[in-house]
Amino acid sequence: MKTSHVVPAAFIALALSACGQGGDSDRGDVKGATIGIAMPTKSSERWIADGANVKKELEAKGYKTKVVFGEDDPDQQVSQIENLITQGVKALVIAAIDNKSLNNVVQQAADADIPVIAYDRLILGTKNVDYYASFDNEKVGELQGGYIAKKLGLEDDSKKGPFNIELFAGSNDDNNTRYFFKGAMKILQPYFDKKQLVVRSGQTELNRVTTLRWDGATAQKRMEDILTSSYKQGKVDAVLSPYDGISIGIISALRSDAYGSKTKPWPVITGQDAELASVKSIISGEQTQTVYKDLRKLAKVTAGMVDSALKGKKPLINDTKSYDNRVKVVPAYLLQPVSVDKSNYKEVLVGGGWYSEDELK
Ligand code: GAL
Repeated sequence: MKTSHVVPAAFIALALSACGQGGDSDRGDVKGATIGIAMPTKSSERWIADGANVKKELEAKGYKTKVVFGEDDPDQQVSQIENLITQGVKALVIAAIDNKSLNNVVQQAADADIPVIAYDRLILGTKNVDYYASFDNEKVGELQGGYIAKKLGLEDDSKKGPFNIELFAGSNDDNNTRYFFKGAMKILQPYFDKKQLVVRSGQTELNRVTTLRWDGATAQKRMEDILTSSYKQGKVDAVLSPYDGISIGIISALRSDAYGSKTKPWPVITGQDAELASVKSIISGEQTQTVYKDLRKLAKVTAGMVDSALKGKKPLINDTKSYDNRVKVVPAYLLQPVSVDKSNYKEVLVGGGWYSEDELK
């Protein structure tokens, strides 16, 4: 074979694209490039805000954007992303609907040298995810579990209880679900062990308490079934809910069973995302707590990752061990979640400029 000291341009391009997985290849002139943003659904206000925030941050950096929403249908999300690739996007920001359904399409992205940023939800089982931008998801669960323990007075009094609690988790195809549940159970388990907390339904394993696609109606149905089967006598004192949309379903089931009255006060009910209806519900004393995550910060971090990946720079990363997607540990930037209830919503949500006082009326 003839050897040559001149390295062919095609080879250099290939070598650069190979190290593109680390995001440190310079992709040449990316000024004004279009970035594809694939969000999971419009059925929850947070993802609409996410789409708008990421778009705004990328446009502020001089990029164009195409935003799509997948209607919680994994197949639809895959074909939307395929379309974005065909349309020539230079990078992809993806909040997965089903964390395992995207392997083929992110391979197509890698083949076209398109970096992929997993947005809030990690994509599993593939090397073709460059970075992950999210919150400390285990901490979210710790805040929910810790809130319940504190509110029921378990933290201060080892003799308190037993209290009845029921457990809800998120969608089983969302990687965050097990992190939220793990964080909450880490805090709650000692109280189960000491019988200060009891799950009358007996449904305690993660695979028995998940809620497909985070659907409020599904959660409502499950809560109704639990009330019928396990609470003919006595009452529920706390419900671990991982997300505001699920809390709304749980509250509906409880309301139909006369909770919220003098004889049956609302249990402690957690949540996540500080969605408008749920913050109002907290103010009026139905839901008890939510976990607020500043999505504006998440969008900023994500836009920074896109920009760095395209320009061959190292993005801001603060975690290189927590998020193993079963093929690699994905370098991540994790923001801090904040517990919000009636006592601090003004300071955190109004003071932080997320809602105005008027919106919360
Ligand atoms: C999760 C996300 C939560 C919540 C949930 C339902 O992936 O981390 O904040 O939004 O989806 O949409």
